Amino acid sequence: MTTTDAREDLLAGLTFPPGFVFGAATAAYQIEGAVTEDGRGPSIWDTYSHTPGRTFQGHTGDVAVDHYHRYPADVALMEELGLSAYRFSVSWPRVLPEGSGRVEQRGLDFYRRLVDELLGAGVDPWLTLYHWDLPQALQDRGGWADRDTAERFADYAAVVVDALGDRVRHWSTLNEPMCSALLGHMSGLHAPGLQDPVAASAATHHLLLGHGLAAGRLRAAGVDSFGITLNFTPMNPASDSAADLDAARRLDGQQNRMFLEPAVNGEYPADVVADLEAAGAPLPIRDGDLEVIAAPLDWLGVNYYFESTVQAGPRPAEKPTSFIGGEDVLELDPVGVTTTMGWGISPEAFTDLLLWIGSRAPGVPLVITENGSAWDDVVDAEGAVHDPERVDFLLRHLAAMTTAIEKGADVRGYFAWSLLDNFEWARGYAQRFGLVHVDYETQRRTVKDSGRVYAEVLRRHREAQ
Ligand code: NOJ
Repeated sequence: MTTTDAREDLLAGLTFPPGFVFGAATAAYQIEGAVTEDGRGPSIWDTYSHTPGRTFQGHTGDVAVDHYHRYPADVALMEELGLSAYRFSVSWPRVLPEGSGRVEQRGLDFYRRLVDELLGAGVDPWLTLYHWDLPQALQDRGGWADRDTAERFADYAAVVVDALGDRVRHWSTLNEPMCSALLGHMSGLHAPGLQDPVAASAATHHLLLGHGLAAGRLRAAGVDSFGITLNFTPMNPASDSAADLDAARRLDGQQNRMFLEPAVNGEYPADVVADLEAAGAPLPIRDGDLEVIAAPLDWLGVNYYFESTVQAGPRPAEKPTSFIGGEDVLELDPVGVTTTMGWGISPEAFTDLLLWIGSRAPGVPLVITENGSAWDDVVDAEGAVHDPERVDFLLRHLAAMTTAIEKGADVRGYFAWSLLDNFEWARGYAQRFGLVHVDYETQRRTVKDSGRVYAEVLRRHREAQ
């Protein structure tokens, strides 16, 4: 645990490049609630969370943290914390309730109001088009496993940029397509809850294709700050046996390189392509797709939470795998302190990861679009939330990021996950990631100690400019 002195040392040691962006991130389904309001259509996460047995204690995003109604107060909180930027996502089924075709102006109006509120508070909006809430109507037609969804995504991007392009500068297409593809279609731990290697492989390609097609529409509308957000898990072999090395290579391939390489270099990693073919789940690539996917990025969004240790199987049957192609790749449980998600804590791996990404994507600025940790936070009798573990996690990861910058990584911004406690997908409301605590009974917001420390980091950074 960090003592007050150690905390002050860490804080004092943090310096960031001029103009460095500091923000916090959220996602539509995790915070908005109001799932049937103003003409919103259902998404795959409504269906999934309402299916018995899918989420922790049957939790759903029906109400979430009621941000749809409370956004002015939430923006005021951002101002109070001194955020210079806010990363949020637009709910596709709010804008196109059937996924394509009819546009719901009331849905777009919500985001117009939100963005105006942000701009009025001096907070720069960073908009993500897709954070996992596919319109159910498109899932009914095959979802991401079907190529047509990529085209529909590009049409949706065009609708949103047409409505908000005058006031939003920073645009991201997809959040963590790896999770959409592999958790959604292979382990089934996320919506749409499939366990189908062929669909998982097809979804991987169609998500990336959708990203590239949407890029064209955003560029045509004049967007000059455009990226994609990928999540990265450094994969360390459990030993240097040939089997463990190969298991780590395979998992790193499917989860990390598979999304990074086509987006920045226009190529799928040959070893992963071969693994997928061997698994009977080849990528449904057509001529020209990779050129579309490799649309130049103004920045690459990096989400980082933990590193993994990988062993060659056998995998216990009770552990659903998100790995396409066999039982022989196993992620070991972390040793040492873990967050309530059960994730290990490795700031050093964050430094190495940023340098590695920089080497794979030379010339592409990086933005940390998510980093954070979940803990059991409670409001005490004085109305405070003391979360020393999150403070420690935050400062150590900021320090690790600055080390990477000193060693040459071109990192331009950092968004903490998350602004608010929220609906943590299959883990429901049991996992709290916020800098701000939410009482789910009353919807009362309480800034945690970590939120105050973050505000102090930002205050010092502003003063140093
Ligand atoms: C990544 C996802 O983008 C976000 O939605 C999620 O809540 C965090 N990781 C924490 O699991």
